[in-house]
Amino acid sequence: MASFKTLDRANVEGKRVLVRADLNVPMKEGRVTDATRIERLAPTLKDLIAKKAKVVVLSHFDRPKGKRVPEMSLKPIVPVLAKVIGANVAFADDCIGAEAKRIVDALQPGDVALLENLRYHNGEEANDAAFIKDLAALGDVYVNDAFSAAHRAHASTEGLAHVLPAYAGRQMQAELEALASALDNPKKPVMAIVGGSKISTKLDVLNNLVERVDLLVIGGGMANTFLNAQGVDVGKSLCERDLAGTARGILEKAKKAGCEVVLPTDAVVAEGLKDGVATAVVDIKAVPADKMILDVGPASVRTLEGKLGGCKTLLWNGPLGAFEIKPFDAGTFAIAKAVAALTDKGALISVAGGGDTVAALNAAGVSEKLTYISTAGGAFLEWMEGKELPGVKALEG
Ligand code: 3PG
Repeated sequence: MASFKTLDRANVEGKRVLVRADLNVPMKEGRVTDATRIERLAPTLKDLIAKKAKVVVLSHFDRPKGKRVPEMSLKPIVPVLAKVIGANVAFADDCIGAEAKRIVDALQPGDVALLENLRYHNGEEANDAAFIKDLAALGDVYVNDAFSAAHRAHASTEGLAHVLPAYAGRQMQAELEALASALDNPKKPVMAIVGGSKISTKLDVLNNLVERVDLLVIGGGMANTFLNAQGVDVGKSLCERDLAGTARGILEKAKKAGCEVVLPTDAVVAEGLKDGVATAVVDIKAVPADKMILDVGPASVRTLEGKLGGCKTLLWNGPLGAFEIKPFDAGTFAIAKAVAALTDKGALISVAGGGDTVAALNAAGVSEKLTYISTAGGAFLEWMEGKELPGVKALEG
């Protein structure tokens, strides 16, 4: 892993510190419905408060595309943020200009302010030099704590790092260390589990992983595409038949790289994805023509548990079945519990990420037990694709 300046090396006392956070949190009718990203930001803010910095929090919310969209204001986040960090949070109605300056100028050492949505200005996404200058005028030091926005080369995620002394925040640091332990210099053997519905959205992930891990477990709807590509009849299951050649190409690449690809050997099938539907467990070679595969079967789960036991590191993205509807959560939950138990024993380093994966691990009640769970969506996927993230790159040095 490249090296980063962390907060340990930052002299922030009495200084205005611009903290790029990702407060793009789930919200319903103006209320925060999941505060995980806010909670993950707390160590950085508390650290800066303790060091008597004047803390200025920057974030985007949703995609207002350069316009002031009232429903996309960061204001409703203020009370939640204040509660999580146990301190008052001032709010500026704009992230640049006179209003922002007035709020920032009023900060005393140890105070915190949140500025309005960066994406109300086109300059943010354009990484525009004038906008970067306007933001930089509000701070002396820049701290990026938003790994989940680091795949964007925007003014606040990339541009600012070039004009102010730049540091990785605590969350960014934890994320980069966890990700490095999973792919850059992992304890071997390494298993990756990639699930989800379609391979079309994860082709780059699969192509990168087959060259970097020892075992690649493919689950969820995307496994059907691989099974179909090998001549298995998957009945009515979700399947990207037009990608059969692509799937065979990935299997070929895996073989050359010495990566074992593990596909389900049995499945839970049903007529359709609905509550209370009749289900059956069938061998993967005996899926009835009028049924859909909706979860991995018990034999596949046992095989996976066995293989997990022989691994030292696990990287997990995507559920193994349609976990939102019972009983199709069984496969994903069984593996989640096995991963949690092995991690608890110190036998496995487990790193997971991606929206559905986090939801599945939360539903299985094991999210506290894994080594690290990333709250990043797109950034986590781009990292799994082996891409360089501009927000991370800008912090190197
Ligand atoms: C996310 O929620 O994944 C990040 O906040 C990035 O949001 P974006 O996809 O709108 O850039």
